[in-house]
Amino acid sequence: MQLWLCPLFAFLLGSVPFGLIIAKLKGIDIRAHGSGNIGATNVLRVVGKKYGITCLILDALKGYLPVAVAITLIRYEGQENPMEIDSLTAWGTVLPAGQQWLAQLLQVLCGLAAILGHNYSPWVGFKGGKGIATSAGVLIALAPAAVVILLLVWLILFFTTRYVSLASIGAAAVLPPLILFGSWFHGKLAAGTWNKPLLVFSIVIAALAIWKHRSNLQRLRDGTEHRFSRKSKNA
Ligand code: G3P
Repeated sequence: MQLWLCPLFAFLLGSVPFGLIIAKLKGIDIRAHGSGNIGATNVLRVVGKKYGITCLILDALKGYLPVAVAITLIRYEGQENPMEIDSLTAWGTVLPAGQQWLAQLLQVLCGLAAILGHNYSPWVGFKGGKGIATSAGVLIALAPAAVVILLLVWLILFFTTRYVSLASIGAAAVLPPLILFGSWFHGKLAAGTWNKPLLVFSIVIAALAIWKHRSNLQRLRDGTEHRFSRKSKNA
């Protein structure tokens, strides 16, 4: 099995512009409405709640699936005794000590490829979305405990400000310190066994998410950012 084909599969899946497709099915070019973004927030804002939620789930799945597949393939790769499969972990701990980082690297590369596929989809002129839902899907597969905390951060920021973009930027900024904290909490920092590819990955995707929100940041500064009101589903 060519495990290194996984990132390619991840990029292709990530590049499927579900937001664009969902809105098109309703006769709307999502790029010409609201923020112009093809993500779930804009689909919800422009097309409606159930379409936005559908887009959120599909965008998250295209991040989760390729990473989950890679993790599963790594679990089986090179195993002669099927009875040992249950004892393997998602982090490839059965690999010889010096090679574990390869399994970790492959997993984060799959996640990164899915997010890049979404953010720079060839099907929409390499423009794509901002990668929040897809990143969430990737992280559910890679670091589920972190997602619970990130979701809390996101919800607090959203319900106190009503800005989705601010909540997304805030959650992105919290990700790298959170991954570092997790390594420290589990004693992996002290032992030197922390997941280095995961930490680098968290910094890269956080920076990417904030970079992708630069038009939102500008609108927040100008006071023109879309704000979700408490009653209406529209921004
Ligand atoms: O995930 C994207 C969200 O943070 C902002 O979306 O449409 O308001 O630019 P939008």
